[in-house]
Amino acid sequence: MTDQFGRNINYLRVSITDRCNLRCFYCMPQQPEPLCHRDILRYEEITRIAAQAALLGITKIRITGGEPLVRKDCPQLIAMLKQIKGIQTVAMTTNGTLLEQALPELCEAGLDAVNISIDTLQEADWCRITGYDGNMPNWPDVLEKCIKVGLKTKVNAVLLQETREEWTQLAALAEHLPVDVRFIEQMPIGQGKTSDCNTAQVVLQQLSKQWPDLQPAEEREQNSPARYYRSKKLTGRIGMIASLSNPFCSTCNRIRLTSTGQLKPCLSYGQHTDLRTLLRSGASDETLRSALRECIYAKPRQHCFAEQTAQAEQQTMNRIGG
Ligand code: GTP
Ligand code: 5AD
Ligand code: SF4
Repeated sequence: MTDQFGRNINYLRVSITDRCNLRCFYCMPQQPEPLCHRDILRYEEITRIAAQAALLGITKIRITGGEPLVRKDCPQLIAMLKQIKGIQTVAMTTNGTLLEQALPELCEAGLDAVNISIDTLQEADWCRITGYDGNMPNWPDVLEKCIKVGLKTKVNAVLLQETREEWTQLAALAEHLPVDVRFIEQMPIGQGKTSDCNTAQVVLQQLSKQWPDLQPAEEREQNSPARYYRSKKLTGRIGMIASLSNPFCSTCNRIRLTSTGQLKPCLSYGQHTDLRTLLRSGASDETLRSALRECIYAKPRQHCFAEQTAQAEQQTMNRIGG
């Protein structure tokens, strides 16, 4: 369905847990207070909401976290969502550390695509950023395995001050692999408010030194937050998600559901509809659907990152799912 500004909303992001096995400083509090299991929507509840959303025109669902793969039986949810009439794509955004072992089950469940958050390929920096006390996965190997099993695969890297010198190395993943490597301007949400952010312009300048023919891609991926670039030397594409320097709100096509059942029409605002209370008080499908419809219609025109008004989202990113 379309919202009050005529945008077609067809993409639902679902955070299935606030928990994560990493502690990326820009996303997660170092000592988080995890939500109680009873406060988190059960898979049946998520599926019920998704089925009503599909009736309103949602065709794509992305599962996020925290880290979605730390929640038990995540592939089961994917299989349940794939069975909903009208849902064409189920994708996942993950930190990638638990991906390799989960791949067979995820494919069996019907997962279509995976976005893996990798901020750097330098192990010492990766461990410092993520707080992980172990070996960094062999990322080219993980990516290759994802591609081999048929998953559309992208890399997400937040533009951090401490990884500036490492962006070209990260982008070079797209030299031989058909992956899109996307650089993300850090958004001022939760922990993300604390450090300075780099802009897409800065990374583009750096990458153009390595690939002088880097040019905006001719094809436009509809409603993607990323603007893509190609070079003859690259198999995959380079993407820029420039929420701050070049917002994409006018073509935004998404809503999000938090793990506690808050339906959020925009990432940047605290504004939400409490679907969990509705569900657990015995609401009919029609009631649920009209709550969804109202929330979608009232989607704000654009984000409020620059203003940081009283209505700005106060929850941390691990509770929203990006
Ligand atoms: P594709 O469906 O593959 O295009 O992925 P996606 O970009 O929609 O999702 P992903 O989870 O990979 O998110 C990449 C980055 O974009 C993260 O930093 C998200 O927080 C950010 N992002 C996703 N949706 C929105 C949005 O609606 N607004 C803003 N400002 N950022 C978003
Ligand atoms: N700004 C931009 N992206 C963020 N992510 C987490 N926190 C932020 C932030 N403050 C990214 C993660 C992941 C996606 C879900 O959101 O790195 O790729
Ligand atoms: Fe859409 Fe809000 Fe994201 Fe802007 S910040 S692109 S309005 S969800």
